[in-house]
Amino acid sequence: MSADYAGKHVFVAGASSGINLEIAHGFARAGAKVTVLSRSADKIEAAAAGIRETGAEAIGISCDVRDYEGLEAAYAEATGKFGSVDVLVSGAAGNFLAPAVKLSANAFKTVVDIDLLGTFNVFRASFDHLTKPGASLIAITAGQAVHPSAFQIHACAAKAGVNMVTKCLALEWGPAGIRVNAISPGPIGDTEGMKRLGGDPAREQQIKNRLALRDYGTKADVAEAALWLSSPAAKYVTGTILNVDGGNDVGDASANALG
Ligand code: COA
Ligand code: NAP
Repeated sequence: MSADYAGKHVFVAGASSGINLEIAHGFARAGAKVTVLSRSADKIEAAAAGIRETGAEAIGISCDVRDYEGLEAAYAEATGKFGSVDVLVSGAAGNFLAPAVKLSANAFKTVVDIDLLGTFNVFRASFDHLTKPGASLIAITAGQAVHPSAFQIHACAAKAGVNMVTKCLALEWGPAGIRVNAISPGPIGDTEGMKRLGGDPAREQQIKNRLALRDYGTKADVAEAALWLSSPAAKYVTGTILNVDGGNDVGDASANALG
Protein backbone atom coordinates (compact mmCIF):
# COMPACT_ATOMS: atom_id res chain seq x y z
CA MET A 1 0.00 0.00 0.00
CA SER A 2 1.54 3.27 -1.05
CA ALA A 3 -0.70 5.66 0.96
CA ASP A 4 1.27 8.28 2.84
CA TYR A 5 0.43 8.77 6.51
CA ALA A 6 3.39 11.04 7.32
CA GLY A 7 2.50 13.31 10.25
CA LYS A 8 -0.90 11.68 10.79
CA HIS A 9 -2.00 10.49 14.22
CA VAL A 10 -3.33 6.93 14.24
CA PHE A 11 -4.94 5.61 17.45
CA VAL A 12 -5.52 1.86 17.77
CA ALA A 13 -7.54 0.45 20.68
CA GLY A 14 -6.87 -3.19 21.58
CA ALA A 15 -3.42 -3.14 20.04
CA SER A 16 -1.06 -4.99 22.36
CA SER A 17 -1.13 -8.08 20.10
CA GLY A 18 -2.49 -9.77 17.01
CA ILE A 19 -4.36 -8.13 14.16
CA ASN A 20 -4.66 -4.71 15.78
CA LEU A 21 -0.94 -4.51 16.59
CA GLU A 22 -0.17 -5.36 12.96
CA ILE A 23 -2.52 -2.57 11.88
CA ALA A 24 -0.60 -0.16 14.13
CA HIS A 25 2.69 -1.31 12.58
CA GLY A 26 1.26 -0.91 9.08
CA PHE A 27 0.35 2.74 9.71
CA ALA A 28 3.70 3.36 11.46
CA ARG A 29 5.55 2.03 8.41
CA ALA A 30 3.51 4.45 6.29
CA GLY A 31 4.80 7.38 8.39
CA ALA A 32 2.13 7.80 11.07
CA LYS A 33 2.59 8.68 14.74
CA VAL A 34 0.82 5.91 16.60
CA THR A 35 -1.00 5.59 19.91
CA VAL A 36 -1.74 2.02 21.01
CA LEU A 37 -4.06 1.20 23.91
CA SER A 38 -5.00 -1.93 25.85
CA ARG A 39 -5.59 -3.12 29.42
CA SER A 40 -2.19 -4.54 30.29
CA ALA A 41 0.38 -1.83 31.04
CA ASP A 42 3.28 -4.23 30.39
CA LYS A 43 1.91 -5.57 27.11
CA ILE A 44 0.98 -2.18 25.68
CA GLU A 45 4.31 -0.60 26.63
CA ALA A 46 6.10 -3.52 24.94
CA ALA A 47 3.92 -3.03 21.84
CA ALA A 48 4.69 0.71 21.70
CA ALA A 49 8.40 0.03 22.24
CA GLY A 50 8.33 -2.47 19.34
CA ILE A 51 6.89 0.23 17.07
CA ARG A 52 9.44 2.81 18.25
CA GLU A 53 12.22 0.32 17.43
CA THR A 54 11.19 0.60 13.77
CA GLY A 55 11.90 4.35 13.92
CA ALA A 56 8.30 5.54 14.23
CA GLU A 57 6.88 7.69 17.02
CA ALA A 58 4.58 5.71 19.31
CA ILE A 59 3.09 5.76 22.79
CA GLY A 60 1.28 3.06 24.71
CA ILE A 61 -1.62 3.80 27.06
CA SER A 62 -3.05 1.33 29.53
CA CYS A 63 -6.85 1.56 29.65
CA ASP A 64 -9.87 -0.75 29.63
CA VAL A 65 -12.34 0.13 26.86
CA ARG A 66 -15.15 -0.45 29.39
CA ASP A 67 -13.85 2.59 31.32
CA TYR A 68 -15.27 5.68 29.59
CA GLU A 69 -13.49 8.22 31.81
CA GLY A 70 -10.25 6.33 31.28
CA LEU A 71 -10.71 6.70 27.53
CA GLU A 72 -11.36 10.44 27.88
CA ALA A 73 -8.04 10.74 29.72
CA ALA A 74 -6.34 8.56 27.09
CA TYR A 75 -7.47 10.83 24.25
CA ALA A 76 -6.35 13.93 26.18
CA GLU A 77 -2.89 12.39 26.67
CA ALA A 78 -2.56 11.11 23.09
CA THR A 79 -3.73 14.29 21.37
CA GLY A 80 -1.57 16.38 23.71
CA LYS A 81 1.40 14.52 22.27
CA PHE A 82 0.46 13.82 18.62
CA GLY A 83 -2.42 16.23 17.82
CA SER A 84 -5.96 15.37 16.75
CA VAL A 85 -6.73 11.80 15.71
CA ASP A 86 -6.78 11.23 11.95
CA VAL A 87 -7.39 7.46 12.02
CA LEU A 88 -9.06 5.55 14.85
CA VAL A 89 -9.25 1.76 14.96
CA SER A 90 -11.44 0.08 17.59
CA GLY A 91 -10.51 -3.59 17.85
CA ALA A 92 -10.47 -4.62 21.51
CA ALA A 93 -12.36 -7.87 21.92
CA GLY A 94 -12.76 -10.98 23.99
CA ASN A 95 -14.02 -14.38 22.91
CA PHE A 96 -14.09 -18.00 24.00
CA LEU A 97 -16.16 -21.03 23.05
CA ALA A 98 -18.97 -21.79 25.48
CA PRO A 99 -22.39 -23.37 25.02
CA ALA A 100 -25.17 -20.96 25.98
CA VAL A 101 -26.30 -23.26 28.80
CA LYS A 102 -22.83 -23.04 30.35
CA LEU A 103 -22.52 -19.27 29.89
CA SER A 104 -23.30 -17.14 32.95
CA ALA A 105 -25.08 -13.83 32.52
CA ASN A 106 -21.86 -12.15 33.57
CA ALA A 107 -19.84 -14.03 30.95
CA PHE A 108 -22.27 -12.90 28.22
CA LYS A 109 -22.18 -9.34 29.56
CA THR A 110 -18.39 -9.33 29.75
CA VAL A 111 -17.97 -9.99 26.02
CA VAL A 112 -20.75 -7.56 25.08
CA ASP A 113 -19.17 -4.92 27.31
CA ILE A 114 -15.71 -5.32 25.77
CA ASP A 115 -16.73 -5.66 22.10
CA LEU A 116 -19.90 -3.60 21.75
CA LEU A 117 -19.99 -1.11 24.61
CA GLY A 118 -16.20 -0.83 24.24
CA THR A 119 -16.52 0.13 20.56
CA PHE A 120 -19.22 2.69 21.39
CA ASN A 121 -17.01 4.11 24.16
CA VAL A 122 -13.88 4.27 21.97
CA PHE A 123 -15.77 6.08 19.21
CA ARG A 124 -17.98 8.30 21.40
CA ALA A 125 -15.13 9.53 23.60
CA SER A 126 -13.03 10.33 20.53
CA PHE A 127 -15.43 12.86 18.98
CA ASP A 128 -13.92 16.05 20.41
CA HIS A 129 -10.42 14.80 19.53
CA LEU A 130 -10.92 13.86 15.89
CA THR A 131 -9.60 15.71 12.86
CA LYS A 132 -12.77 17.20 11.39
CA PRO A 133 -13.24 17.00 8.48
CA GLY A 134 -11.12 14.04 7.45
CA ALA A 135 -11.07 11.47 10.26
CA SER A 136 -11.41 7.77 9.38
CA LEU A 137 -12.88 5.45 12.01
CA ILE A 138 -12.66 1.67 11.65
CA ALA A 139 -14.29 -0.95 13.87
CA ILE A 140 -12.91 -4.47 13.78
CA THR A 141 -15.91 -6.76 13.58
CA ALA A 142 -16.22 -10.45 12.61
CA GLY A 143 -18.28 -12.80 10.47
CA GLN A 144 -20.09 -13.84 13.67
CA ALA A 145 -21.99 -10.53 13.36
CA VAL A 146 -24.03 -11.94 10.50
CA HIS A 147 -23.50 -15.70 10.70
CA PRO A 148 -24.92 -17.39 13.82
CA SER A 149 -22.21 -19.59 15.37
CA ALA A 150 -22.71 -22.30 17.96
CA PHE A 151 -20.96 -21.65 21.29
CA GLN A 152 -20.43 -17.97 20.45
CA ILE A 153 -23.79 -16.41 21.31
CA HIS A 154 -21.94 -13.68 23.24
CA ALA A 155 -19.53 -12.73 20.41
CA CYS A 156 -22.23 -13.01 17.72
CA ALA A 157 -24.54 -10.65 19.62
CA ALA A 158 -21.71 -8.24 20.40
CA LYS A 159 -20.29 -8.07 16.87
CA ALA A 160 -23.80 -7.69 15.36
CA GLY A 161 -24.06 -4.60 17.53
CA VAL A 162 -20.64 -3.41 16.38
CA ASN A 163 -21.87 -3.47 12.77
CA MET A 164 -24.86 -1.30 13.73
CA VAL A 165 -22.72 1.12 15.76
CA THR A 166 -20.57 1.49 12.63
CA LYS A 167 -23.52 2.20 10.34
CA CYS A 168 -25.37 4.51 12.74
CA LEU A 169 -22.25 6.61 13.38
CA ALA A 170 -21.53 6.75 9.63
CA LEU A 171 -24.98 8.30 9.26
CA GLU A 172 -24.61 10.77 12.14
CA TRP A 173 -20.97 11.80 11.76
CA GLY A 174 -20.66 11.87 7.96
CA PRO A 175 -21.84 15.49 7.78
CA ALA A 176 -18.92 16.42 10.08
CA GLY A 177 -16.53 14.88 7.56
CA ILE A 178 -15.95 11.68 9.53
CA ARG A 179 -16.06 8.34 7.73
CA VAL A 180 -16.97 5.25 9.77
CA ASN A 181 -16.41 1.75 8.41
CA ALA A 182 -15.68 -1.73 9.73
CA ILE A 183 -13.37 -4.51 8.65
CA SER A 184 -14.60 -8.06 9.09
CA PRO A 185 -11.61 -10.42 9.05
CA GLY A 186 -12.08 -14.09 8.31
CA PRO A 187 -9.94 -16.67 10.09
CA ILE A 188 -6.50 -15.07 10.45
CA GLY A 189 -3.46 -17.24 11.16
CA ASP A 190 -1.15 -16.79 14.13
CA THR A 191 -3.70 -14.98 16.30
CA GLU A 192 -5.18 -15.43 19.74
CA GLY A 193 -8.60 -15.49 18.12
CA MET A 194 -7.88 -18.56 16.00
CA LYS A 195 -5.98 -20.19 18.86
CA ARG A 196 -9.24 -20.03 20.80
CA LEU A 197 -11.60 -20.88 17.94
CA GLY A 198 -9.54 -22.93 15.47
CA GLY A 199 -8.76 -26.02 17.48
CA ASP A 200 -6.46 -28.85 16.36
CA PRO A 201 -4.83 -29.21 12.89
CA ALA A 202 -7.71 -31.40 11.60
CA ARG A 203 -10.28 -28.77 12.56
CA GLU A 204 -8.06 -26.07 11.05
CA GLN A 205 -7.97 -27.96 7.74
CA GLN A 206 -11.74 -28.32 7.87
CA ILE A 207 -12.12 -24.55 8.25
CA LYS A 208 -9.73 -23.91 5.36
CA ASN A 209 -11.59 -26.38 3.10
CA ARG A 210 -14.82 -24.42 3.60
CA LEU A 211 -13.23 -21.16 2.49
CA ALA A 212 -13.39 -20.17 -1.20
CA LEU A 213 -9.72 -19.10 -1.00
CA ARG A 214 -8.79 -22.27 0.92
CA ASP A 215 -6.47 -20.70 3.49
CA TYR A 216 -6.32 -18.53 6.60
CA GLY A 217 -5.60 -14.86 6.00
CA THR A 218 -2.65 -12.98 7.45
CA LYS A 219 -2.59 -10.07 9.87
CA ALA A 220 -1.00 -8.05 7.06
CA ASP A 221 -4.08 -8.69 4.85
CA VAL A 222 -6.20 -6.88 7.43
CA ALA A 223 -3.66 -4.08 7.95
CA GLU A 224 -3.56 -3.39 4.20
CA ALA A 225 -7.35 -3.04 4.17
CA ALA A 226 -7.19 -0.55 7.06
CA LEU A 227 -4.59 1.54 5.24
CA TRP A 228 -6.73 1.62 2.11
CA LEU A 229 -9.95 2.42 3.99
CA SER A 230 -8.31 5.44 5.65
CA SER A 231 -6.63 6.73 2.49
CA PRO A 232 -7.89 9.36 0.03
CA ALA A 233 -8.57 6.46 -2.37
CA ALA A 234 -11.51 5.53 -0.11
CA LYS A 235 -12.77 9.09 0.49
CA TYR A 236 -16.31 8.21 -0.71
CA VAL A 237 -16.57 5.02 1.37
CA THR A 238 -18.53 5.13 4.62
CA GLY A 239 -20.91 2.84 6.49
CA THR A 240 -19.30 -0.20 4.86
CA ILE A 241 -18.50 -3.55 6.44
CA LEU A 242 -15.46 -4.67 4.42
CA ASN A 243 -14.96 -8.44 4.44
CA VAL A 244 -11.29 -9.50 4.40
CA ASP A 245 -12.20 -13.10 4.84
CA GLY A 246 -11.13 -15.41 1.99
CA GLY A 247 -14.79 -15.69 0.98
CA ASN A 248 -16.08 -16.77 4.39
CA ASP A 249 -19.11 -14.51 4.06
CA VAL A 250 -20.27 -15.94 0.73
CA GLY A 251 -20.66 -19.40 2.15
CA ASP A 252 -19.33 -22.93 2.37
CA ALA A 253 -17.12 -23.62 -0.68
CA SER A 254 -16.08 -27.13 0.34
CA ALA A 255 -18.26 -28.73 -2.37
CA ASN A 256 -16.72 -26.61 -5.13
CA ALA A 257 -15.10 -29.17 -7.47
CA LEU A 258 -12.88 -26.55 -9.09
CA GLY A 259 -11.27 -25.83 -5.69
N1 COA B 1 -16.20 -20.23 29.30
C1 COA B 1 -17.27 -19.80 30.02
N2 COA B 1 -17.23 -18.67 30.79
C2 COA B 1 -16.07 -17.97 30.81
C3 COA B 1 -14.93 -18.37 30.08
C4 COA B 1 -15.02 -19.57 29.31
N3 COA B 1 -13.98 -20.01 28.58
N4 COA B 1 -13.94 -17.45 30.31
C5 COA B 1 -14.45 -16.52 31.13
N5 COA B 1 -15.73 -16.84 31.46
C6 COA B 1 -16.62 -16.11 32.36
C7 COA B 1 -16.06 -16.03 33.77
O1 COA B 1 -16.31 -17.23 34.50
C8 COA B 1 -16.84 -14.82 34.30
O2 COA B 1 -18.16 -15.17 34.60
P1 COA B 1 -18.67 -15.41 36.15
O3 COA B 1 -18.39 -14.13 36.87
O4 COA B 1 -20.10 -15.73 36.04
O5 COA B 1 -17.83 -16.57 36.66
C9 COA B 1 -16.94 -13.90 33.10
O6 COA B 1 -16.72 -14.74 31.95
C10 COA B 1 -15.89 -12.79 33.12
O7 COA B 1 -14.61 -13.38 33.23
P2 COA B 1 -13.31 -12.54 33.64
O8 COA B 1 -12.14 -13.45 33.57
O9 COA B 1 -13.58 -11.79 34.91
O10 COA B 1 -13.29 -11.45 32.46
P3 COA B 1 -12.16 -10.44 32.03
O11 COA B 1 -12.83 -9.17 31.78
O12 COA B 1 -10.99 -10.48 32.95
O13 COA B 1 -11.63 -11.11 30.64
C11 COA B 1 -12.33 -12.48 28.74
C12 COA B 1 -12.41 -11.13 29.48
C13 COA B 1 -13.08 -13.53 29.56
C14 COA B 1 -13.06 -12.28 27.41
C15 COA B 1 -10.88 -12.99 28.54
O14 COA B 1 -10.91 -14.20 27.82
C16 COA B 1 -10.00 -11.98 27.79
O15 COA B 1 -9.43 -11.10 28.42
N6 COA B 1 -9.93 -12.06 26.43
C17 COA B 1 -9.09 -11.15 25.61
C18 COA B 1 -8.32 -11.88 24.52
C19 COA B 1 -9.21 -12.55 23.53
O16 COA B 1 -10.30 -13.06 23.86
N7 COA B 1 -8.75 -12.56 22.28
C20 COA B 1 -9.49 -13.09 21.18
C21 COA B 1 -10.22 -12.00 20.49
S1 COA B 1 -11.27 -12.68 19.23
P1 NAP C 1 -5.88 -10.49 20.39
O1 NAP C 1 -4.46 -10.61 19.94
O2 NAP C 1 -6.30 -11.18 21.64
O3 NAP C 1 -6.25 -8.94 20.47
C1 NAP C 1 -7.20 -8.42 21.36
C2 NAP C 1 -6.64 -7.14 21.92
O4 NAP C 1 -7.65 -6.49 22.68
C3 NAP C 1 -5.44 -7.33 22.83
O5 NAP C 1 -4.51 -6.33 22.51
C4 NAP C 1 -6.00 -7.09 24.24
O6 NAP C 1 -4.94 -6.57 25.04
C5 NAP C 1 -7.10 -6.07 23.93
N1 NAP C 1 -8.19 -6.05 24.89
C6 NAP C 1 -8.97 -7.08 25.28
N2 NAP C 1 -9.90 -6.65 26.17
C7 NAP C 1 -9.69 -5.32 26.31
C8 NAP C 1 -10.33 -4.31 27.07
N3 NAP C 1 -11.37 -4.59 27.88
N4 NAP C 1 -9.87 -3.02 26.99
C9 NAP C 1 -8.81 -2.73 26.18
N5 NAP C 1 -8.17 -3.63 25.44
C10 NAP C 1 -8.61 -4.92 25.50
O7 NAP C 1 -6.90 -11.02 19.26
P2 NAP C 1 -6.95 -11.09 17.64
O8 NAP C 1 -7.29 -12.49 17.33
O9 NAP C 1 -5.80 -10.43 17.01
O10 NAP C 1 -8.29 -10.22 17.38
C11 NAP C 1 -8.24 -8.82 17.16
C12 NAP C 1 -9.57 -8.34 16.62
O11 NAP C 1 -9.89 -9.00 15.38
C13 NAP C 1 -10.76 -8.58 17.53
O12 NAP C 1 -11.66 -7.49 17.44
C14 NAP C 1 -11.40 -9.82 16.96
O13 NAP C 1 -12.77 -9.96 17.28
C15 NAP C 1 -11.19 -9.57 15.48
N6 NAP C 1 -11.22 -10.79 14.65
C16 NAP C 1 -10.23 -11.71 14.75
C17 NAP C 1 -10.24 -12.82 13.93
C18 NAP C 1 -9.12 -13.83 13.98
O14 NAP C 1 -9.07 -14.73 13.12
N7 NAP C 1 -8.20 -13.73 14.93
C19 NAP C 1 -11.31 -13.02 13.02
C20 NAP C 1 -12.32 -12.07 12.97
C21 NAP C 1 -12.27 -10.95 13.78
P3 NAP C 1 -4.93 -6.60 26.66
O15 NAP C 1 -5.06 -8.04 27.05
O16 NAP C 1 -3.64 -5.96 27.03
O17 NAP C 1 -6.09 -5.77 27.08
